[in-house]
Amino acid sequence: MHRIFICAGFAALTVWSQVSAAAQPHPGRLLASNCFQCHGTDGRKGFEELAGKSSSSIYEEMKEMQTKAADKNIMNAHARGFSDNEIWLIADYFSKVSR
Ligand code: HEC
Repeated sequence: MHRIFICAGFAALTVWSQVSAAAQPHPGRLLASNCFQCHGTDGRKGFEELAGKSSSSIYEEMKEMQTKAADKNIMNAHARGFSDNEIWLIADYFSKVSR
């Protein structure tokens, strides 16, 4: 009898931890919110749709823009503000948003 209760407790805990894990926001969302102003909320309906783009293409574009003249294009300036790790988090976030 005890065993049944322990099993039920474990099952409930497992379900709870999965539900709470799913409710955690993606770690790149707050960083990506910097982009929403121009690229639309969640990267939809702004300049250059970022939603659903591959993370590697967003990453490569950001790295390329970091090397270009910051006073010539708003993105070149913007890209410089982020570390490689932050760019990966942002790129991963947008790649997982459905279009
Ligand atoms: C102030 C407005 C603004 C903000 C904020 C902004 N962008 Fe942009 N972004 C643009 C514009 C405008 C373009 C188009 C630039 C062009 O074609 O010359 C662009 C283009 C891009 C491109 C495509 C580049 C290409 O050549 O295809 C990527 C990728 C991108 N932005 C990522 C981001 C990310 C990631 C963020 C947030 C960290 C961000 N942008 C924030 C305005 C903005």
